Amino acid sequence: MIITIDGPAGSGKSTAARKLAEALQIAYLDTGATYRAITLLALRRKVSMDDEAALIQLARDADIHLIPAPDAVRVLLDGKDVSDDIRSPEVSDNSHYIARSPGIRKVLVKLQRKLGAELGDFVSEGRDQGSVVFPDADIKFYIVASPEVRARRRCEELIAAGQDVVYEQILKGIIERDRRDSTRATAPLTKPDGAVEINTTSNTVEQTAEQLLTHVEQQR
Ligand code: C5P
Repeated sequence: MIITIDGPAGSGKSTAARKLAEALQIAYLDTGATYRAITLLALRRKVSMDDEAALIQLARDADIHLIPAPDAVRVLLDGKDVSDDIRSPEVSDNSHYIARSPGIRKVLVKLQRKLGAELGDFVSEGRDQGSVVFPDADIKFYIVASPEVRARRRCEELIAAGQDVVYEQILKGIIERDRRDSTRATAPLTKPDGAVEINTTSNTVEQTAEQLLTHVEQQR
């Protein structure tokens, strides 16, 4: 079984995807982690975000592994655990350069399909999972929430990870990322055909996970 969950940053899709996968006892594929890993690699190697050819080569040569873990997926880059490093504000702010490149997306879509094939049954989460990467998924969700609620959630996550945050800056970043994600030429963020839309603005994490699970059980 393949379940896809797409939606904007901070909509609650990561936690929902993790909880759904856990409840169904199947794997969870965090595709944002693949874009974040390439962003981190480019920043570390000081590759210019405008040099698309060099970035594509970097993505082709990258050694990325995702290891399922109960709390969050662990991400290995060249064999080293970068799970925390890929969540830094610097990586978040630069990931759109990686996400906008058709050449890099091609490499990462291939990687995501390969990871999916290795996992068997899984819940995949991202921006283009139901529309581009797994268009034949059994069940597709599109998760949305107001920008203000999403900014508040992102602040809480970053504070919990020990980072300093300013709410207004996070909100501005979220609005900007929405604009970039939904207006980019390749694989823009969009509700996939046949997806069930869920608005999590006034939901707790548990309520969202419950809604998804109920829908999956009705379809089985
Ligand atoms: O979901 P997350 O915030 O980790 O995504 C990191 C970056 O990767 C974002 O810029 C997002 O637009 C991009 N992304 C994407 N397609 C996906 C998953 C993430 O373009 N399937």
